[in-house]
Amino acid sequence: MNFSDVYNIYQNRINKKLIDVLNRLPFQHSILIKSMKYGTLIGGKRLRACLVYIIGEMFKVNIITLDVISIAIELIHSYSLIHDDLPCIDNDYFRRGNVSCHVKYGESFTILAGDALQSLAFNVLSTHIMPGVSDRNRIKIISELSYSIGSTGMCIGQTLDLQKDIKELNINELEKINLYKTAFLIRSSVRLSYLSSKFFSKKILLLLDRFSIAIGLAFQIQDDIFDFKNDAKKTKKNTNENKNIYNTYPYLIGIKQSQKKIKILYQEALSILKIFKKKCFIVNNLEFLTDFIIQRSK
Ligand code: IPE
Ligand code: IPE
Ligand code: MG
Ligand code: MG
Ligand code: MG
Repeated sequence: MNFSDVYNIYQNRINKKLIDVLNRLPFQHSILIKSMKYGTLIGGKRLRACLVYIIGEMFKVNIITLDVISIAIELIHSYSLIHDDLPCIDNDYFRRGNVSCHVKYGESFTILAGDALQSLAFNVLSTHIMPGVSDRNRIKIISELSYSIGSTGMCIGQTLDLQKDIKELNINELEKINLYKTAFLIRSSVRLSYLSSKFFSKKILLLLDRFSIAIGLAFQIQDDIFDFKNDAKKTKKNTNENKNIYNTYPYLIGIKQSQKKIKILYQEALSILKIFKKKCFIVNNLEFLTDFIIQRSK
């Protein structure tokens, strides 16, 4: 099986799991559930979910357990995107090839849908069966995820991101924003998967952290390059004003230097995979996923 088959299998799997979870909620005909489904089910590369599954494969985690973690991560990610697009944040009219959630369902219901997706993620993590995971580890998992997305993680990252246009940033400040707003959720996807395994070694966790931070930072720079190129292509017809694309890597150091930075991060990620290989872990799929993240075209 090649990597694109593996990726397809996991994408289909997580899509089905997300549909199941959302279909089981009460008030199916309410605008709240409709907005939650719109924000979660339509489009989405499911990269974080695939990362959960692939790390889980490496550490022999039960697939039912990985489903639970992947669902939670993708729900949180979807919540973060529908809030990120709101007029008071990035003011993005489109998401995943369609109009944004607030354009379709309005701002109030988008805010509430984001809130509800976030609490659903924690409800899933605390109630679904996770074979092989002790209650103690389940609490660790919940604690890690909550820490990585709130005022100590994604939300402070988004805050710094919103404040970044007040003055010209330096690269270190920018890297900090990317770390909090994007890399920490990616790190959490890896950590949750590892924490649900029977292994635990601080050394392995540190290596996984270095790996996930490297791909997380590279991922955001890549995203900023796409946004930068789209912005340059923008015609007068497209009046959608994303006010949050300045002060990113391509604006600060140009495309070439940004790509160079991605390459450095990629090398860092690969060097860690080499260490895992030496320790006799099978890292083929993780290697392919790393390549895919770095070389993706959308
Ligand atoms: C977009 O993430 C948001 C960023 C952190 C840059 P993705 O590009 O993974 O979004 P989807 O889930 O595939 O739409
Ligand atoms: C998104 O970053 C980060 C989070 C949602 C936490 P961006 O604002 O750059 O992502 P896109 O470009 O809207 O997907
Ligand atoms: Mg944003
Ligand atoms: Mg945005
Ligand atoms: Mg972006």
